Amino acid sequence: MKSPFKFGQVVEGEYFTDRAKDIKRLVANFENNINTVLLSPRRWGKSSLVHKAIKTTLKRNKNFRACYIDLFQIRDEKEFYGKLATGVIKSTSTKFEDWVRTAGQFLKTLTPNISFGIDPQADFKISFDFTDKDKTYGEILNLPEKIAKKKKIKIIIAIDEFQNLSNFKNPLLFQKRLRSAWQYHYNTVYCLFGSKRHMLTEIFENKSMPFYKFGDVIYLSKIEQKYLVKFIIRKFEKTSKHINGKYANEIVALMKRHPYYVQQLAYIVWSNTGKTVDQKTLDNSVNDLLDRNSILYEKEIDELSNTQVNFLKALVDGIDNGFSSQDILKKYNLGASSNVIKIKRVLLKKEIIDISGGQIEILDPAFELWLRKRYFAAGGIKL
Ligand SMILES: Nc1ncnc2c1ncn2[C@@H]1O[C@H](COP(=O)(O)OP(=O)(O)OP(=O)(O)O)[C@@H](O)[C@H]1O
Ligand SMILES: [Mg+2]
Repeated sequence: MKSPFKFGQVVEGEYFTDRAKDIKRLVANFENNINTVLLSPRRWGKSSLVHKAIKTTLKRNKNFRACYIDLFQIRDEKEFYGKLATGVIKSTSTKFEDWVRTAGQFLKTLTPNISFGIDPQADFKISFDFTDKDKTYGEILNLPEKIAKKKKIKIIIAIDEFQNLSNFKNPLLFQKRLRSAWQYHYNTVYCLFGSKRHMLTEIFENKSMPFYKFGDVIYLSKIEQKYLVKFIIRKFEKTSKHINGKYANEIVALMKRHPYYVQQLAYIVWSNTGKTVDQKTLDNSVNDLLDRNSILYEKEIDELSNTQVNFLKALVDGIDNGFSSQDILKKYNLGASSNVIKIKRVLLKKEIIDISGGQIEILDPAFELWLRKRYFAAGGIKL
């Protein structure tokens, strides 16, 4: 039987739940030409949300087009310009013959290298020989706006994994180039998103950076408990299996409303269930989940210092903001409170913890469970 749960890829349609408010806000931003920055830890549903919001916008507005670029696969600035030009041209002309014509018409000072593969529709690509003059970058960066004006359309440009620009040779110069072109775009709207929150926060909230106050900054939250519970129950019923509210709630609570992990644990429970979920199946499934991840978690722990692990132990024990108390520092062998500041900084950078509203949280709920049920339970730490 086909799994009713999906994790690890962009989800849509019946695999997607909640997010009504975020979709509304994103669609309104697109329609009103307000640039958006969307941030969240890994696997909370950014890509899925942006896809859904774009789809909704395109459905409501016949004059909108969208171009989606994933920086994950892009290694340098030059490659970015090639992908941008290809994406913009492909999304604004319907026919393949038009793509070539549009490329020639709008890219005047540059000679684009256009290549086709076996399947021209899928393999159409544009790249450029750069002369390293500002004019060159400008021409490509202004391409969407020029096409939008000429064709009387609006273009949404969504750039995923935006934090990857840090791998470019000169990230700051790149940001300056983007910003100086984009600030004059009135028919193209940008949506930039990614994880690495501390890094992206620096890009978008530091006054001296080019992207300071670039647009509406959204910190995505997790999905609400009630929607996830309903989602799980519905999925079981659809495949003629049954889970009662208590266990559905337990799955969501154990995974702390983390969208990816809720779908993963629900999947394991579903595949371990014949007809109806019982406590034993749920417990075994949690163990399966931890087994699947344990090698990864052991590696993660190996890379941490003793005091960093001690700090995680305190978090697992429920201490989430009491790190100024001498008793706690002593009990968990954390050293001076200045040391705690350092520990937090490292764990934030490694994306092991997140701090919001003063509360500290271990980001990966299955890792936290593994620490509690296995690592610390087996005396993994010497206090
Ligand atoms: N709205 C949603 N409803 C149900 N499940 C969701 C939703 N959004 C995300 N998920 C779950 O989380 C997983 C990750 O989603 P997605 O890839 O959109 O997140 P992301 O934040 O872009 O992740 P990454 O940081 O890896 O890019 C999905 O495969 C799915 O299991
Ligand atoms: Mg993503």
